[in-house]
Amino acid sequence: MNRQHYVFPKWSNMLLPTLIAVSTVVPLYVVLLAAYGFSPKATDVGYQPEQPIPFSHAVHAGQLGMDCRYCHNTVEVAAKAAIPPTQTCMNCHEKIKKDSDQLQLLHETYQRGESIPWVRVHDLPDYVYFHHAAHISRGVGCVSCHGRVDQMEVVYQHEPLSMAWCLNCHRNPEPHLRPLGEITNLAYDPMVELTADERHQLRKLHSIDPSQDCSTCHR
Ligand code: HEC
Ligand code: HEC
Ligand code: HEC
Ligand code: HEC
Ligand code: HEC
Repeated sequence: MNRQHYVFPKWSNMLLPTLIAVSTVVPLYVVLLAAYGFSPKATDVGYQPEQPIPFSHAVHAGQLGMDCRYCHNTVEVAAKAAIPPTQTCMNCHEKIKKDSDQLQLLHETYQRGESIPWVRVHDLPDYVYFHHAAHISRGVGCVSCHGRVDQMEVVYQHEPLSMAWCLNCHRNPEPHLRPLGEITNLAYDPMVELTADERHQLRKLHSIDPSQDCSTCHR
């Protein structure tokens, strides 16, 4: 796979100098993991695991118009976005489509007091630190990183989640900035709705200056 390295060339040639240069700013374990090829990479664009229940975002977030935060209710305040507990589904499915085959596992796990074994879609390596609220509270919407989830029958990874991808936006965030009221409106495109000057004003309003320091994402 084609990976871009902004700060240093190929590991194989540059191992020792790189170790010395980098170990002062990045935890040594990150460097060693990467140097010896043990670094698990983020999952890839298009990754779309089968889920235990055919839960459709296109139906719930699209057709029914449910806000993302009804289910992912920590996304504005915490690092993690939270996968909803079975109880959240039961708020409706206690009654709605109660006898559907597709909901059998939901009812079984609920009765046993267990959680549904959802399969993770997005998964950064453990040596990367990510924080949802830091983005959401500055006007970076879900769609910038997850694509049109409200049109997905089954969620898939829309963006590479590589270091180059993160840095690309940290260098130039303005095209992605929207008013906070539009955070979960996936159809809203700041490049269409706002002028360059309005996007610049949003940046100033929230004093946005994304960090490119290694320790921001590797700590
Ligand atoms: C009714 C509850 C519900 C709503 C509303 C909802 N989601 Fe989800 N979401 C889930 C559940 C359950 C999963 C885990 C199963 C799956 O991946 O489909 C999930 C998974 C995801 C994932 C993948 C998580 C991973 O494993 O990496 C993303 C991204 C996501 N949702 C984004 C959104 C966005 C954006 C919205 C609003 C447009 C939204 N969701 C609305 C329940 C919901
Ligand atoms: C706000 C109410 C609401 C919540 C909360 C909700 N759903 Fe639904 N769900 C619906 C409605 C309404 C439909 C039926 C759409 C239709 O008419 O086909 C549906 C349909 C479904 C279906 C398809 C059933 C079938 O037989 O076609 C599945 C599966 C499902 N939901 C799973 C879930 C899961 C899992 C959760 C929790 C993560 C959840 N739902 C949360 C309202 C809800
Ligand atoms: C700046 C990019 C970015 C934005 C904006 C963003 N996400 Fe994420 N999201 C990610 C990354 C990266 C991961 C994987 C995190 C990991 O593996 O530690 C993720 C993971 C998730 C997950 C899986 C649970 C978790 O936290 O690991 C859900 C659910 C999710 N996002 C929903 C949302 C919703 C809903 C929004 C909008 C309100 C949103 N995300 C906005 C990048 C983003
Ligand atoms: C679409 C744009 C965008 C993408 C993509 C993006 N970021 Fe950010 N990030 C921002 C903005 C904007 C901020 C807020 C900066 C500020 O408050 O000055 C931010 C802030 C952060 C912060 C908080 C910094 C602090 O000082 O608390 C972390 C950590 C972070 N990003 C990590 C990541 C990682 C890791 C990725 C890739 C997986 C990523 N970001 C991808 C735009 C983005
Ligand atoms: C905005 C977030 C962010 C910043 C800032 C950042 N990184 Fe990363 N870094 C990542 C992500 C995300 C990955 C995981 C890439 C993957 O899984 O494909 C990564 C991976 C790595 C790796 C593993 C090897 C590789 O290339 O995949 C090394 C080594 C590394 N970063 C070093 C650094 C150094 C040195 C700096 C400072 C010059 C830095 N990083 C700054 C997000 C960041």
